[in-house]
Amino acid sequence: MVLEESSRTPTHVIAHLSDMHLLADGSRLHGRIDTEAQLRAALRRVESTGEPVDALVLSGDLTDIADPAAYRLLREIVEPVAERLGAAIVWSGGNHDERRPLARELFGRDTDEPQDRVTTVRGLRIITLDTAIPGHHDGGLSQDQFDWLARELAESAPHGTILVMHHPPIVYRSPWMQLLDFREPERLRDVISQSDVRAILSGHLHVTSFGTLGTTPVFVAGGVSYVDDIGVPRARLMAIDGPQSWNLIEVHEGQVVGTVVPVAEHETWPALSDRVAAYMEMVPPVEQRAAFSRKHSQTAVENDPARST
Ligand SMILES: [Fe+2]
Ligand SMILES: [Fe+2]
Repeated sequence: MVLEESSRTPTHVIAHLSDMHLLADGSRLHGRIDTEAQLRAALRRVESTGEPVDALVLSGDLTDIADPAAYRLLREIVEPVAERLGAAIVWSGGNHDERRPLARELFGRDTDEPQDRVTTVRGLRIITLDTAIPGHHDGGLSQDQFDWLARELAESAPHGTILVMHHPPIVYRSPWMQLLDFREPERLRDVISQSDVRAILSGHLHVTSFGTLGTTPVFVAGGVSYVDDIGVPRARLMAIDGPQSWNLIEVHEGQVVGTVVPVAEHETWPALSDRVAAYMEMVPPVEQRAAFSRKHSQTAVENDPARST
């Protein structure tokens, strides 16, 4: 842990998972995917990072068919992890969810109103926008929801705001998914343009994707359940069992950084040798960048501290 003092740590860490499509009856999604196993595997990887996660954000399509038992299973799986991490849970509905069972099982409310919410974690405001439209798979916000958002954003938060919305307000390459996208991105752009919104976290596409809405970055988490195959022509919509992932969102004072974390574990090996690690232990923090970064001549390559093997 020699580098801890000199490394730049974020003010807030978010683990952003999306599109669990959880099924509670033991059946497999598309006849192939064990959704419960996928969610458990993703959360194991959240914990194995050792990151001080402030919030677990689950950005919709929490369940595949809005089975109340699936929401109960979701809580049973996610809540103990959040407790161990000391993290807030931010639930957001998607087009595969249904408002009433979601509200009843996750929030204890018997309503079919949109589930827009504000969660504040140590000065960072996370606003969930329920972009699911009852009876439809595409997304949008009602006039009331736009008005509510504008009222919330009228006052800024100490560390700014992260918006969570299932349908990303960016254009994805698939013409099929374009028929199911967010209806009024320009209107949302105008509402947030003068606000403290620093990033938008979305799902729905089942791929990792990035874009901008005005000047606001949009981070789309790839599916935890299955993934859209990007390596085929855009007119086809093909699902694959991998590479499922989630996004590690690190909020710094001056920027927001998203990093993709694969759900599957792969064989690992040290990219840094014990010899180099031992050497760096002896280097004072102020000299670490120069010591680790410096390139050496071919003849001195054996002594290069950044040479890992
Ligand atoms: Fe989905
Ligand atoms: Fe979706």
